[in-house]
Amino acid sequence: MGDSQRRGHGIGKNRQDLINPMTGNPYTPRYYELLKSRLKLPIATYKQKFDELMERPEVPVICITGETGCGKSTQVSQWCMDYVNRTALTGARKMVGHILPRRVAAMTVAQRVADEVDVQIGQQVGYHIRFEEMFSKMTQLKFLTDGMLLREIISDPFFEKYSVIIMDEIHERTLATDILLGCLKEILRQRDDLKLIVMSATLDAGKFSKYFNDAPLIAVPGKTYPVDIFYVPEPEKDYVEAAVRTVVQIHLTAEEPGDILVFLTGLDEIEDTCKRIKEEVDKMGDDVGDIKVFPLYSTLPINQQAKLFESRPPDKANGARANAQQRAGRAGRTGPGKCFRLFTEKAYQSEMQDFVYPEILRSNLGSVILNMKKLGIDDLIHFDFVDPPSPQSLFTAMETLNYLAAINDDGDITELGSMMAEFPLDPQLAKMVIASCEYNCSNEILSICCMLTVPQVFVRPAEARRAADESKIQFAHLDGDHLTLLNVYHAFKQHGDSPQWCYENFINFRSVQSADGIRQQLSRIMDRFSLPRRSCDFTSKDYYTNIRKALVAGFFMQVAHKEKSGHYLTIKDQQIVQLHPSTCLDHKPDWVLYNEFVVTAKNYVRTTTDIKVDWVVEIAPAYFQSENLPNCEAKRILEKVRAKLIARGRLKA
Ligand SMILES: Nc1ncnc2c1ncn2[C@@H]1O[C@H](COP(=O)(O)OP(=O)(O)OP(=O)(O)O)[C@@H](O)[C@H]1O
Ligand SMILES: [Mg+2]
Repeated sequence: MGDSQRRGHGIGKNRQDLINPMTGNPYTPRYYELLKSRLKLPIATYKQKFDELMERPEVPVICITGETGCGKSTQVSQWCMDYVNRTALTGARKMVGHILPRRVAAMTVAQRVADEVDVQIGQQVGYHIRFEEMFSKMTQLKFLTDGMLLREIISDPFFEKYSVIIMDEIHERTLATDILLGCLKEILRQRDDLKLIVMSATLDAGKFSKYFNDAPLIAVPGKTYPVDIFYVPEPEKDYVEAAVRTVVQIHLTAEEPGDILVFLTGLDEIEDTCKRIKEEVDKMGDDVGDIKVFPLYSTLPINQQAKLFESRPPDKANGARANAQQRAGRAGRTGPGKCFRLFTEKAYQSEMQDFVYPEILRSNLGSVILNMKKLGIDDLIHFDFVDPPSPQSLFTAMETLNYLAAINDDGDITELGSMMAEFPLDPQLAKMVIASCEYNCSNEILSICCMLTVPQVFVRPAEARRAADESKIQFAHLDGDHLTLLNVYHAFKQHGDSPQWCYENFINFRSVQSADGIRQQLSRIMDRFSLPRRSCDFTSKDYYTNIRKALVAGFFMQVAHKEKSGHYLTIKDQQIVQLHPSTCLDHKPDWVLYNEFVVTAKNYVRTTTDIKVDWVVEIAPAYFQSENLPNCEAKRILEKVRAKLIARGRLKA
């Protein structure tokens, strides 16, 4: 509903007679209630300016920034609907696509906007998130995640369905967002009937304005409600402890009723903090009021998240000023608030980087490239990234993908690569999973893969180190840590997914449980590609050998050789490393495959498995060709093995 139409009717006059043009029904009382507060939002006064910019053909992109709660997400999408209805030729109306990086946000904002325009969700206003479609032929405004829009580009490369695309919460800088921005910039060059709105709560919008050839920027000042900010005078050693203490203190001393929102970095921390707050308050007895504590995190079932309130789940531990600023904003969303920062003001000013690193610079570049290739974006060197990765890192990642046979020598994605891109895994893991079918052990590799993807499964509490270490021994496998993880997973399933069993055996229940969930997801992807899920007979002598070979098929680039001097040298970059003390290998094999390179005071390789040199040469002959190898002891051994395998006809010369 646009302001212009509203003015024409006059609010409050003959309410009963006003008809919602979208539904043909009279507006409900709820509509007027919401309308009153909508018109008071800080952004409301910018509608005219926005409309003027939208009318100008030479302005394809508009950037909008404003404090959280000022009305960006809920109002601008409605303005865009108005624009489409105003300008579309009859019958030619296209959609408004509103992109949010998080599923819960897409869903809750859609619901809110549907309420505000007085329609049923799924009709004129809908959403589309993974595993959930809530839209129809009637839908004019569709909320979707960036991942969903990326999928649409495959079948609709110019986004012809849309006449306006709103990229919201752009400061989150997810990988999908970054790729989409690059694509949209190109699409805008070719479609003059497409408008792009870029929105952000924080001020890096200036950067995006520049990226889109100095697009006009609407900056909405002011907050809905005041928020007072408090810092701790001294740095806190234990911020969980500090958070608990602060919450209890607020609960005891607050004069007004209200809610407290605590931002933490991870699931365990959240659960732990909830428990401790409850305990502390219970301890104080009847003198203090009761407190209700709810956890909220991204893996909580989506309806439970949405039920609580519209909010972003906690972020990773990456402290950035933009985040802190946005979180303070959360406090002032529905009323005045206070924000207690558990760091010092000095730290805020001097130690925090301004913004989180975009995901594209944090994540495995191989995955990024594979996904882009899959989308048909071939020229990565000239792709217009907002924050381009270095050419060197692009080149290295391409090389890796080539060794994994995900792209061919011309840089084109292969059938295997295209399959790998469908797995939400780093390329090496994806390759390992796919290859495991040939080694007759895809069931086991799938389990190992999932155990590698989740946080540490072995718990080692400070007060029970020895007990924990002793408990770990019962799972230990002679050939290494990957197989040990497999033993843990099998034991967990044998004990009926029991949290109690986990607790008694120093296993992190949440981790294995989440591994189990990921396993189901990955299984479905395997089924889609008819990748058979197989196991070798457990009593066969090949059972474990096959699994280790499949590990090599994915991770041949991560092997280390024990030199005569007794230390290990990684083949790829010739680093001296030690086996991590957590390993359950009780011997020092000549060759190990590792999952992770850890740099502390010393260099370690963590999660290691004993492998045979013959396997690496046979499984990855291109990688272990001698011209690729630096001069070292290992090179001479590899050359000998290669010659031997050729002589036996197991390898082509
Ligand atoms: N689900 C909801 N329930 C109640 N009020 C809501 C809801 N969603 C939005 N509002 C109200 O509408 C206002 C505008 O919300 P909107 O989401 O459009 O803000 P925003 O500028 O996009 O903020 P952010 O940067 O946090 O995304 C809020 O201040 C709040 O008062
Ligand atoms: Mg918003």
